[in-house]
Amino acid sequence: MTDDQYDFESIAVGAGEERPRADTKDVVTPVHLSATFGLDAAGYPEEGYTYTRHGNPTRDRLEDRLADLSNAARVFAASSGMATVSTVCLSLLGPGDRVVAADSLFGGTKQLFDEFLTGFGVEVSYVDATDPENVADALGPSAELVWVESPTNPLLKLCDIEALGELSDEHGATLVVDNTFATPYAQRPLDLGADVSVLSTTKFVNGHTDSVGGAIAVADADLSEQFGFVLRDVMGAPLSPFDSYLVLRGLKTLPARMESHQRNATEVAAFLADHESVAAVNYPGLRSHPDHDLAARQMDNYGGVVTFEIDGDGAETRAFVEELDVFELAMSLGGVESLVEHTASMSAASLSPAERETAGIPDSLVRLSVGLESPDDLIPDLAAALDEV
Ligand SMILES: Cc1ncc(COP(=O)(O)O)c(C=O)c1O
Repeated sequence: MTDDQYDFESIAVGAGEERPRADTKDVVTPVHLSATFGLDAAGYPEEGYTYTRHGNPTRDRLEDRLADLSNAARVFAASSGMATVSTVCLSLLGPGDRVVAADSLFGGTKQLFDEFLTGFGVEVSYVDATDPENVADALGPSAELVWVESPTNPLLKLCDIEALGELSDEHGATLVVDNTFATPYAQRPLDLGADVSVLSTTKFVNGHTDSVGGAIAVADADLSEQFGFVLRDVMGAPLSPFDSYLVLRGLKTLPARMESHQRNATEVAAFLADHESVAAVNYPGLRSHPDHDLAARQMDNYGGVVTFEIDGDGAETRAFVEELDVFELAMSLGGVESLVEHTASMSAASLSPAERETAGIPDSLVRLSVGLESPDDLIPDLAAALDEV
């Protein structure tokens, strides 16, 4: 931790932070909704608050706390996870630049690369980044950016962040890791050698399915100026004060929630792995996961997402997800409530069948976000729906 006086759990609830206002001694950070702030004199002051798009006390508090938890020089809170992806790309890439990207990526990121960046003359080379050798082969002298997720959405593949950090350094490229599924509680990419870490706070970090947001963590303060300019002045997409308050509140229980997510997901994954109607299960905490040893090395918690393939076709898989009661059919993850999706027709719907095949997303794939309900309710729900189809 940057603040080596306290543990992660203590920093998450704000231990040791100075109170924002000495006069009221607020225990909870107040929501500063003011869009603008009064000035003592005409002109643009070097310090203090001027306008909420440029700086806001509630958002500053969140960014500082996330920076401590991520061991980052600076964090920027953005209005969505996609706003963080766009900010990093618009800040670091220009015509003629090249990105080496993992071939297993969140659909929105892939869409941004394929349908937007390439229009600006940026070349994107996709490789299987689970093997660092593939990234080394693709890097060459010309790549500016290496972009990976770990674990990936939806296949829960892992990348060796330390090895990729060394490779990126050798080639003068910037390594960006999407840490949405792990959160800083489970994995701190900057400690492992990444230059930038992005995540969607919409998922586990906020954890209550009531706020859309994102955060960019940078290892080196030198990158901060450009990221701040693009996020606030070009895209105009920093996180709102109220969402900043919600994420600050969510962060306080992140360690406790992640422990419960992991406990429940482990039970669910073990149940599915033993079921005759299940063809394959993906969960980094399972010994059968191809990168379980890497997960044990670079993660402190295996998270709450489990994906699996039904031994059946697309119609049977859709029937299964519609049959569940405790798992709600909805397209997000990381909240306290368990959600299920049929990936091919939901979060990967923007991909063509051929692209889904290349991405390894079969029609029989189901993604579970295992919440905090009792496994004694979650597992019978899955068992009944599997029996039904
Ligand atoms: C890995 C990953 N990165 C980024 C995003 C985008 O986040 P948001 O929906 O908050 O824009 C998502 C959303 O599901 C995601 O799963």
